[in-house]
Amino acid sequence: MNDSPQPRETLASLLSETRHFDPPADIVAGANVTGEAYERAQADRLGFWAEQAGRLDWATPWDRVLDWDNPPFAKWFVGGKLNVAYNCLDRHVEAGNGDRVAIHWEGEPGDTRTITYADLLSEVKRAANALTDLGVVAGDRVAIYMPMIPEAAMAMLACARIGATHSVVFGGFSVDALSGRINDAQAKVVITADGGYRRGKPNALKPTVDESVALCPSVEKVVVVRRTGQDVEWSDKDVWWHDVVGGAAEEHQAQPFDAEHPLFILYTSGTTAKPKGILHTSGGYLTQVSYTHHAVFDIKPESDVYWCGADIGWVTGHSYIVYGPMSNGATQLMYEGTPDTPHKGRYWELIDKYKVTILYTAPTAIRTFMKWGDDIPAQFDLTSLRILGSVGEPINPEAWMWYRKHIGGDRCPVVDTWWQTETGAIMVSPLPGVTSTTPGSAQHALPGISADVVDDTGTSVPNGGGGYLVLREPWPSMLRTIWGDDERFIETYWSRFEGMYFAGDGAKRDDEGNIWLLGRVDDVMLVSGHNISTTEVESALVSHPAVAEAAVVGATDPVTGQAIVAFTILRGGSEGDDDLLTELRNHVAKTLGPIAKPRQIMIVPELPKTRSGKIMRRLLRDVAENRSLGDVTTLQDSTVMKLIAEGMAKGK
Ligand code: WT7
Repeated sequence: MNDSPQPRETLASLLSETRHFDPPADIVAGANVTGEAYERAQADRLGFWAEQAGRLDWATPWDRVLDWDNPPFAKWFVGGKLNVAYNCLDRHVEAGNGDRVAIHWEGEPGDTRTITYADLLSEVKRAANALTDLGVVAGDRVAIYMPMIPEAAMAMLACARIGATHSVVFGGFSVDALSGRINDAQAKVVITADGGYRRGKPNALKPTVDESVALCPSVEKVVVVRRTGQDVEWSDKDVWWHDVVGGAAEEHQAQPFDAEHPLFILYTSGTTAKPKGILHTSGGYLTQVSYTHHAVFDIKPESDVYWCGADIGWVTGHSYIVYGPMSNGATQLMYEGTPDTPHKGRYWELIDKYKVTILYTAPTAIRTFMKWGDDIPAQFDLTSLRILGSVGEPINPEAWMWYRKHIGGDRCPVVDTWWQTETGAIMVSPLPGVTSTTPGSAQHALPGISADVVDDTGTSVPNGGGGYLVLREPWPSMLRTIWGDDERFIETYWSRFEGMYFAGDGAKRDDEGNIWLLGRVDDVMLVSGHNISTTEVESALVSHPAVAEAAVVGATDPVTGQAIVAFTILRGGSEGDDDLLTELRNHVAKTLGPIAKPRQIMIVPELPKTRSGKIMRRLLRDVAENRSLGDVTTLQDSTVMKLIAEGMAKGK
């Protein structure tokens, strides 16, 4: 097997990817989940989920697995009661595993903390008491605006422990975003820090909180963790974490809450419309994040060191840093900073140092690592790794192959996991001990999940067909509603197709029945009457050895309706020339068919991305259609668009 780019013949050829990688024998031999799970779930879906719920500790058993009498409003494990934090902490300590490391934390400047399950439990108990002392009761909302420090997880677990609903807001968001979210949820308390370290320097958080709280009358108290020691303004609402948590009582008895008790609200980014407060509840959510973390990452809590590189401000951080891994009693690495500080090998150095066995990261990060060069990971010992995960957007086959070869040493299964803030947990993914993997495809719905690809009329497409990804049956960790807006919940997800959840993603099914995710439906172009997905063209470009990253948009064209305009970053920061541009256009035509040949390819130094790493094609469309730029406030780096626009002007 080699990973040199192979030119392909037709537009459909991306979907006839023929490379397969069988699961390694040692992983098959010890796998947590075998192929039998699919049959079991197929035969009795609700019985299957009841078994998975049984992996948790319930104070009161449920009397009905699913109440779907009033769709699309689901209730799972009806009548059951449990405490989410108890399941993530106390029960591991009670089982004699209190000395197991829960978090190996590494600060960006290189400071470290080792926190066992017993340590974490005692800090969370104190934090729960502190929140109670501040007047927080079950059902209240608490906003969390934190850097990647252990207190972020402690704050979430302390809320869960007392039944307060947390709303974590990503620490890079502005006053507008933070105050809008606090007001929407009417949060009573905000938990934050003076700042965190990013790109080698302290990055203040408290000033943004101060400005936001001035706009948010619901906020009574602000709890501040001291992380950087930088100067902060102080008001009579402010209290230090080390005072209120440090001074709180050590004992705390976790009370059980109803399975449908609201656990958290998390706002989805939304590029233009008002953000949606996605509501998740307790029993079903914890069941599915716990099961999928066990199944997809094959976690062995006694021996694995797991690392999810996401931020706690995204759903990935909620489900696969806090609730999934901790409900399973896993040991994990948590890293505060960016992958290029103080050097571009920081990730690989950390894997080497902590002997990380499972890595979960995003395609945007993988492509950045590719761009930085193979020689960087090659300097570190990555042989501890056994499973690699990807999440966040479609992963191009070439990026998948690079990840497998240069990070996974050609031995680790790569699991491409499709899910959303709304689904709460992984839905479509290979299983590392079962699936023969195919680069670029998320492949199959997990056991107990009914994913399908349907056409415009809601009819399943046959193998080889394309359309929209839908979910035909409710699942335990599904969103329950949009906070305060049931109508919008129904309208957004349940109105496109009768009786099905509409995910908003385009998808295809290949000849072997594998599911390929093709990006958001708004990212499908219509060129001379042909549907072409931006992802397909981007993958074709990235399969050329000169290209590190590509973003493709459809620009209005008088002749073809839409024309394909590509923005590419070259490997090694090269600027390219006309010959290369012609070669790249021809390469796409050869790979996908002449219809997919870009009208124009621009070489750019960077691409506009949201802070969660999604390419903002809307802005690129503005550039491609010579419009003035729309809202750029969610951009990770606001100077990027200036560079791109200058490049466009030069290229004309
Ligand atoms: C959207 C959800 C799920 C946690 C992070 C993102 C895209 C996510 C994949 C994947 C193709 C993917 C979809 C989805 N997406 N994972 N493996 N393959 N696309 O959560 O911000 O709610 O975004 O991310 O378009 O709808 P999110």
